[in-house]
Amino acid sequence: MRPDHLTHSLTLKRRKIAQQPMSEGKIMKLTTIALSTLLALTTSAFAEGDIKKGKKVFKKCAACHTVKDGKHKLGPSLFGIFGRTAGTVEGVKYSDAMIASGIVWDEANMREFLTKPKDYIKGTSMAFGGIKKEQQMDDLIAYMKDKTIPE
Ligand code: HEC
Repeated sequence: MRPDHLTHSLTLKRRKIAQQPMSEGKIMKLTTIALSTLLALTTSAFAEGDIKKGKKVFKKCAACHTVKDGKHKLGPSLFGIFGRTAGTVEGVKYSDAMIASGIVWDEANMREFLTKPKDYIKGTSMAFGGIKKEQQMDDLIAYMKDKTIPE
């Protein structure tokens, strides 16, 4: 066979392969690979925020909260908040709604709560409208993680 014949038949073969519909198994396999790659690339499903900018956003909270252990204002200290059950800081007066919520604070429910506190916990006494800008939320969460997670 002459070389150009060879190339031609190879091209035909490639076309045939390309035209074959992918089997379900193959699609599943590719999906699994894509998903695990994505997981490996991101430790968190949320965007990383900027701690410094988050400190500014926290000013909205600072009238009522500190990030210092045991230092409460109108609201409880947020030190150690991640992983803690809502409404359980001793010596703090919570609403019945907060105590009854049974929430264990993590990044996902914190974001949801802070977007619209009164919707997430109906009856909360936290008088705060919410954070609507995604970037502000990312930055705030980054700041909170940096400051409230015990070393
Ligand atoms: C006007 C005062 C005020 C502001 C502003 C405020 N909070 Fe609160 N926060 C409270 C009060 C009061 C509670 C207790 C609410 C309850 O018991 O329902 C609370 C509760 C919380 C809790 C649950 C604490 C726990 O121990 O379970 C979190 C988390 C929280 N606030 C975060 C924030 C963040 C972050 C901001 C800023 C974006 C903010 N708060 C703004 C007053 C405030």
